[in-house]
Amino acid sequence: MNNVIFYFSGTGNSLRTAQIIAQEIGGAKLVSMRNNPADVSAADAEMIGFICPVYEWDVPKAVKKFVAQLAVNPQAYTFMVATYIAIHGRCFETISTALHEKGTCLHFGKALRCVASQCIAYEPFPPVQIMVPLAERNAQKIGKEIAVRRLRKYPVMSPISKWLYPKMMTPFLNIQHEYDKGFYASDACIGCEVCRRVCPCKNITFLNKRPVWNHSCEGCNACVVYCPTKAVQFKTPDAYIKLNNVITRRLGLPEKRTRYHNPYITAADLMRDSVEALQTGVVLT
Ligand SMILES: Cc1cc2nc3c(=O)[nH]c(=O)nc-3n(C[C@H](O)[C@H](O)[C@H](O)COP(=O)(O)O)c2cc1C
Repeated sequence: MNNVIFYFSGTGNSLRTAQIIAQEIGGAKLVSMRNNPADVSAADAEMIGFICPVYEWDVPKAVKKFVAQLAVNPQAYTFMVATYIAIHGRCFETISTALHEKGTCLHFGKALRCVASQCIAYEPFPPVQIMVPLAERNAQKIGKEIAVRRLRKYPVMSPISKWLYPKMMTPFLNIQHEYDKGFYASDACIGCEVCRRVCPCKNITFLNKRPVWNHSCEGCNACVVYCPTKAVQFKTPDAYIKLNNVITRRLGLPEKRTRYHNPYITAADLMRDSVEALQTGVVLT
């Protein structure tokens, strides 16, 4: 067995999916995509998976960059599972294109509905008690298909999404570097650095025992939902106030907003950068 699954996860849905699929395929090395791709080559792997959330109708930028730089075995069976809620957009095309450039292709692609978890903008939906067990069952089914190396054509971006993308998504992406100017730590911060260690973009550093966000944020919410004292707060940045559209007007983090994360994934799970066959691996320090 030489299976490797690369994952990116903020609120745990994608990591949980990776764990389930690893179990179904008889074990896999789970590797966070926040590693340097040069350190985690898949040049000898027989099966290579990519599991990540859909962000703004595509994969997170960090995922695109990681896959572009990753060495892969062109003979390996490759699969991708994108966790999302409603619009997968062009996420599979992005990874497929990157694999084509490496002389291979995406053999299996499937989108998996999970709890939508953008706590800066809305309450989690659909209800967690319905959606989490459903996502668990569906992830197992997907894992069984991957275990037999099924070929499955991935879903592509719909024409309507292609038409809407420049109108709805591009304005956000143009100011994304401004997004994390909204984060700050309240007096409840105990300087534990959990936010730094769960951040899939390695975007947080510490200065005088307080977190500093360094403008490579993709809005995953890990720092908010895994903070043990709920100290991470958010005030809508000026650039987003200026955009003033139906989505930016919703931004904010009211005291009572549910800070959802996948119930099976702890902060310690996300801090682990590499888990060999579901065993404890390297802890990021
Ligand atoms: C910044 C951000 C952007 C998102 N964009 C989309 C999107 O374009 N389409 C969609 O269906 N879901 C979108 N979602 C929902 C996530 O894809 C979904 O909650 C995913 O399961 C989160 O994965 P994670 O728990 O591994 O971080 C978005 C969530 C966040 C935080």
